[in-house]
Amino acid sequence: MGKDVIVACDFSSAEATYRFLDMFTGRKPFVKIGMELFYAEGPEIVREIKARGHKIFLDLKLHDIPNTVKKAMNVLSRLDVDICNLHASGTVPMMQAALEGLTRDDGTRPLLIAVTQLTSTDQTHLEEDLWIHEPMEKVVMHYAENAKKAGLDGVVCSPLEAEAVHRCCGSGFLTVTPGVRFADGDKGDQKRVMTPEEARKIGSDYIVVGRPITAAADPVAAYERCVREFCDEETK
Ligand code: C5P
Repeated sequence: MGKDVIVACDFSSAEATYRFLDMFTGRKPFVKIGMELFYAEGPEIVREIKARGHKIFLDLKLHDIPNTVKKAMNVLSRLDVDICNLHASGTVPMMQAALEGLTRDDGTRPLLIAVTQLTSTDQTHLEEDLWIHEPMEKVVMHYAENAKKAGLDGVVCSPLEAEAVHRCCGSGFLTVTPGVRFADGDKGDQKRVMTPEEARKIGSDYIVVGRPITAAADPVAAYERCVREFCDEETK
């Protein structure tokens, strides 16, 4: 898979999601299904969106003991999604177990990526809540290296960290980056943001974009603008 824009379908029902996706006539955006939609609608929403021809990033961020995560991933492997994820803080054995569970009998599997530190976590949370006394960037790189050691395909990280992750884990190690906003857009609750063009220049492999597309007056135009800025070097 190459560079692409993943649309975060943060809707609470199947109807709202289909109403949104139906606007894209002739286009099949890569879709992110998160906890809200999955818990509301169950695996059927994944099957339906896949049947409509979309690639899917199933963003459920698993974190439990290795055996439980392995079995859960085994169930998810039957859904034929393109990317799954988990928390790197679950440890290397948990990530290895996840990979085993996700691998089908024929050896195929979805890509598996790890959340390093959520972008809602700051240095104060690291120190005071988690008792991690190292700078955020060092923690993120360590978790990315653990994910690589476990055999995973990449990480979810801030676009500001994408370059450093590639430096320490190699350019083939995927960086999937949320926190993207248009230069003239509203930042909402995202604090450390980049434009799609900046994310491309810094080497993000995939950008995850929610409200700048889903809440736009013209979502299809906003999506196409994202694709143009992120994927098409010729426009610059
Ligand atoms: O609407 P917005 O573009 O901010 O949506 C970003 C999406 O990426 C949301 O679905 C959010 O849950 C997800 N995400 C994030 N930061 C992370 C991990 C996931 O914003 N660290």
